[in-house]
Amino acid sequence: MSYVTASAPGKCILFGEHAVVYGQPAVAVAIDQRIKVKIQPSQTGLWLLDGGDLNFTRNPHIAGLIDRLWADDETLQPLSFQIEGNIPRASGLGSSAALSSATAAALRMAKGRWLNAKGDGSNNNQWSEGYSSSIRETNPYTGSGYRENREEQYAKKEFHLTGPKAVDIDECALLAHSVEADAQNGRASPMDSSTCSHGGIVVISDKREANIDWQYTRKMTTPEGVRTWEIHTMKPPEDDVYLVIGNTGIHAPTSRQVANVAKMLKKNPKRFREIETIGRIARRGIAALIQGDYETVGRTMTENHLMLQSIGVSSPELDNLIKAAAPTALGAKLTGAGGGGCMIALTRDPKLTSDAIELAGGRTLITKLGATGVAIDKHGGIPFCQ
Ligand code: PMV
Repeated sequence: MSYVTASAPGKCILFGEHAVVYGQPAVAVAIDQRIKVKIQPSQTGLWLLDGGDLNFTRNPHIAGLIDRLWADDETLQPLSFQIEGNIPRASGLGSSAALSSATAAALRMAKGRWLNAKGDGSNNNQWSEGYSSSIRETNPYTGSGYRENREEQYAKKEFHLTGPKAVDIDECALLAHSVEADAQNGRASPMDSSTCSHGGIVVISDKREANIDWQYTRKMTTPEGVRTWEIHTMKPPEDDVYLVIGNTGIHAPTSRQVANVAKMLKKNPKRFREIETIGRIARRGIAALIQGDYETVGRTMTENHLMLQSIGVSSPELDNLIKAAAPTALGAKLTGAGGGGCMIALTRDPKLTSDAIELAGGRTLITKLGATGVAIDKHGGIPFCQ
């Protein structure tokens, strides 16, 4: 029986939310909680999701990925998807990016990749299909865009690469970003998609940051014009520290929170200083992470929260959970858009900190910093086509 199971982690933001919208660096970390996607050829000839009909309108991320990776090949049959996981939805923890990245990996694994010459897939000049940030002339942000300008190369399908080497993490990140943007009216930063794909710790900024590994540039046309992001990864020294994520259970849409900050800045442009301060705090946090100085990382998180309070994106519920965590934590702050959603506390005693947050009314998750990125967990009978 042919099947592929792939998974990808959620994320939370350690430093720099909101200021990243204005070009400052933000630091995101992959968490232990994951979304798992299993795909199999459908036995009924219909597209299925968790045993029922797959509704393409209500599942735009899956629909977008089928469009980009599956629909162009008539030898490929409809699929059955099963999705499970422990990342709460709509709480700023990257559940839709994790779903998208894992789905992209599963589809690519099931399909394999056509090359124009025999190779192991590492040289994307040999790809006869697919997306990579280093193939400049392809446009993953449109459904059929990858064919543009590469007709000749794509026409040459010489060698079918199958197995784990067919899966490319950059491609998963790029496709996850493009379907996230499609599902959100053309607005999405690559922070979630890159972190859920690469895992570890990801820094995103409008410029190349010093002392960390620059990976690639993402460029996307948004309703506000072309935006460019520089994506970096970093690997801090191992230590016995944990993040406790506390969920307020309150849903506050990111778009509203971002709009409130924009309004505040328009009314009083002097307050851009606060945005710049958050940027400075994030850079201090990055330096402390590089050193593995988690006491300073914690203190810096708390400072970051004070600035987020100052720009008006915290809430009494978030502040309440942060206060409860403080005595047992190295530092704590809201994570993501704020107004509700989640807070995080950096701690050496996750049980104690988690109990304190739960007593104050939050639902908690415990994670190490920087989980593994998108991965193929199991497979059999690949490729699905003949
Ligand atoms: O709610 P989240 O975790 O997706 O975070 C939003 C982060 C913001 O900086 C507030 C917005 C953005 O697009 O970067």
